[in-house]
Amino acid sequence: MIRLTVNGQAQTFDGEPSMPLAVYLRDVLNIPTVRYGCLMASCKSCLVYVQSVRSLACTIPMSDMQNKDVSTAPEW
Ligand code: FES
Repeated sequence: MIRLTVNGQAQTFDGEPSMPLAVYLRDVLNIPTVRYGCLMASCKSCLVYVQSVRSLACTIPMSDMQNKDVSTAPEW
């Protein structure tokens, strides 16, 4: 089981380890401000902060997210 923090809340993930972080954030956690398009590091629509570093969430598999901290854009 992968444990991570998203916007200050502890979360767990027990699914497919290759799932992109962007898909987890939008489709599993239902965070509407997280978007994705190309899923190939081209469109930059999936920008989030991982460990306070701007990151393309489509390029990061959930298997790399153990004990990581993620921040997404606030809802407007
Ligand atoms: S979805 Fe296009 S760069 Fe991540």
